[in-house]
Amino acid sequence: MGCAFVPAAVPARGRHGLTARQTPTVRPRQVWAGGQPLAAPAHGGRLQATCREAAVKVATADEAAAVPQAVAAAAASSAVPPPSKDLDWATLGFQFRPTNCYVRHTYRDGAWSTTPELVAEPYIKLHIGATALHYGASCFEGLKAFRTADGRVSLFRPDENAKRMASSAARLLIPEVPADLFLSACKAAVRENVEFVPPYGTGGSLYVRPLLFGSGPKIGLSPADEFTFLVLVTPVGDYYAGGPAPVTAIVTTDYDRAAPRGVGHVKCAGNYAADLLPNTLAKRAGYPINLYVDAADQRSVEEFGTSNFVGLIGNTYVTPDSPSVLPSVTNKTLATLAEDAGMVVERRTVDIGEVGEFEEVAACGTAVVITAVTRIVYKGDVITVGAGRGSDPEVVGPRFSDLYKQVRGIQYGEIADPHGWCFDVYDE
Ligand code: PLP
Ligand code: COI
Repeated sequence: MGCAFVPAAVPARGRHGLTARQTPTVRPRQVWAGGQPLAAPAHGGRLQATCREAAVKVATADEAAAVPQAVAAAAASSAVPPPSKDLDWATLGFQFRPTNCYVRHTYRDGAWSTTPELVAEPYIKLHIGATALHYGASCFEGLKAFRTADGRVSLFRPDENAKRMASSAARLLIPEVPADLFLSACKAAVRENVEFVPPYGTGGSLYVRPLLFGSGPKIGLSPADEFTFLVLVTPVGDYYAGGPAPVTAIVTTDYDRAAPRGVGHVKCAGNYAADLLPNTLAKRAGYPINLYVDAADQRSVEEFGTSNFVGLIGNTYVTPDSPSVLPSVTNKTLATLAEDAGMVVERRTVDIGEVGEFEEVAACGTAVVITAVTRIVYKGDVITVGAGRGSDPEVVGPRFSDLYKQVRGIQYGEIADPHGWCFDVYDE
């Protein structure tokens, strides 16, 4: 897509109350085609070009091809640039697909760089002693950008991800990324890759993955002196192959993901390392999703490997209250929507023995959205959710269907957003 600089006034404080500290008063919007910035000198096979005052771009020279078309396209329309014509949006699934660039900031000498670097190559040159590699000093986030019914592109609740990344960072002795830097980097990453935001109506989104890690070397165990914050994006569709169809989960009892006073409540890379084996074993055994229970009692439900647990019974929305569960933005969103609809939200201990009593159970998270879980295998026994209460394990229950429609409706701008959850990426 096109590369154009569109001067845009940046409000001192946006509608969501974040300051635009890292952005100049008049900030050029840089959009680029095939990786080549406008007005940037080429330097052989690799170039590092200043994209006006807003960003530094690192790109390969063989990405130059489409600039004239890009200029024409950008000049022809001041609207949000359209999706690429070269992707089959219907078959995206959830996998890494190459995009134009990622956004990078570096922390050195006690401060974060304020100028975002746009890096075209999907690689990082990393010191062999980096604490991320040796000691797992790394945390990440996951959020999504959507093309809306009225042609905007918006991020869903990035302020919540900024807060959660700050809490992960604090636990890992990584310097916090200020919320406004987090937000401006996410917006920049989406804008620079806007042709990869799937078209409205396809059900897809642009997955945004902020990553924060110790990039400086330490060989004794201690925090690094240098850190890297980057935001990469990739277009995605459904996380589970069957789309919205219900799944059967297996309770992992041979391994624990987390423990009280551990790091389960933060989004550190190590939690996912711990889950790789049990998650893979579950899949090999035919279960797309695994459920963790409390490490000590092996009965209190915690969460799925990559999503939170929610059960519905009567007028009540129930989700486990545990210090080792990741506070999910999706769960918080659904709980609010449930409360708006007059339901009671309970955060409490959930015994595995009561799971069959729920009328509906779902896994919820950014990647999985709401995935109905209708059967759960626990120590060889199959618990059928809602058995005896008329729930059909082959179909997604009516109330999760309704919550799904509401959350997607808000994300795609089809229904009102009364809580101000959607952040327009072109609002500067
Ligand atoms: N729990 C775990 C372990 C996760 O990895 C995720 C995914 O981010 C979630 C829960 C859901 O969190 P969110 O809704 O913020 O994506
Ligand atoms: C997300 O839902 O965004 C996550 O981070 C889970 C990840 C394993 C895909």
